[in-house]
Amino acid sequence: MINPPYHASNDRYESGMKYERCGKSGLLLPRISLGMWHNFGDTTPLARSRDILHFAFDRGITCFDLANNYGPSYGSAEETFGKIMQTSFRPYRDEMVVTTKAGHDMWPGPYGNWGSRKYLMASLDQSLRRMNLDYVDIFYSHRFDPETPMEETLQALVDMVRQGKALYVGISQWPYEASKFAYDYLAAHDTPCLIYQGRYNMIDREKAKEGIISQAAENGVGFTAFSPLEQGILTDRYLNGIPAGSRASIGKFLKPEKITATLLEKIKQLNSLAAERGQSLTQMALAWLLKDKEVTSVIVGCSSTAQLKDSIGCLDNLTFSPEELDKIDRILF
Ligand SMILES: NC(=O)c1ccc[n+]([C@@H]2O[C@H](COP(=O)([O-])OP(=O)(O)OC[C@H]3O[C@@H](n4cnc5c(N)ncnc54)[C@H](OP(=O)(O)O)[C@@H]3O)[C@@H](O)[C@H]2O)c1
Repeated sequence: MINPPYHASNDRYESGMKYERCGKSGLLLPRISLGMWHNFGDTTPLARSRDILHFAFDRGITCFDLANNYGPSYGSAEETFGKIMQTSFRPYRDEMVVTTKAGHDMWPGPYGNWGSRKYLMASLDQSLRRMNLDYVDIFYSHRFDPETPMEETLQALVDMVRQGKALYVGISQWPYEASKFAYDYLAAHDTPCLIYQGRYNMIDREKAKEGIISQAAENGVGFTAFSPLEQGILTDRYLNGIPAGSRASIGKFLKPEKITATLLEKIKQLNSLAAERGQSLTQMALAWLLKDKEVTSVIVGCSSTAQLKDSIGCLDNLTFSPEELDKIDRILF
């Protein structure tokens, strides 16, 4: 048989995955979510994407993070997810939190980008069709649009929930003041913001410095960190050069020149510290984020099941001594 039927692992909720309440909502999220920005588009063999998605769900990863333009090509990661939904995930739909977003460039012309109601509503309809879904669990405004009235973007989110096309809504990469406006607006319209999705990792701490993470907590909103491994820099991926097929070798979103000798030296020191803790560097980088309960979940990317297995292993040790935390800071800054 080419495609044996998929049966999710019976012990998927006993295999060590941990779940955390998302802000003040009723929704629990896995501390590790799987992001489909890279490696799930139509340039990746479907069988590899399928293996990773099955592997994730079999280990209790219930949250799959997508966006309209994930691929490449645009839309194709959602199509991949739609194929898996049709062929194997359908019986488990109610065990999953599927998210999508719109806000970046998606289709040509004035209605395929940013934050207008016209764009967001059409985009969600397209995403649902590609993913073979009736609704998404979370729809995000992918970025703040300085030229569209915030009320228009936010009312579109409210109306998606009222139409039954999204269960919850969130915002991603919105600035501090605008986020406060969003939290107040959405709460006043009976659609409390569920979650803020922001770039956050051991190297890039802007979201903490800007107060975005504590602001989310104060407003009862969860926080999920994307690019928790700094696109692979906070792993052993680049310790011995730039491997063929790696994100830095493709060079579009992770430029090889970013991996300087100075940075590499720091990564090597972090790698040694991780080994002292009995963890891989990947695991230490994720544990550093998850030690803090204000970080509801981290959205990891991966190009293989082996990478994802490594990442999930972080859950075995999420605690740091003050000395270890201090050492990480001294290595990096
Ligand atoms: N809201 C937003 O604006 C936004 C923006 C960016 C991302 N996101 C979300 O966040 C998700 C994750 O982002 P990301 O892919 O940048 O996350 P990441 O976890 O920082 O980086 C993932 C990459 O790191 C490498 N990697 C992962 N595990 C590894 C391991 N155990 N050992 C060695 N290398 C490993 C892989 O690189 P190779 O591919 O080279 O193997 C993988 O593709 C996205 O898929 C998306 O869902 C959201």
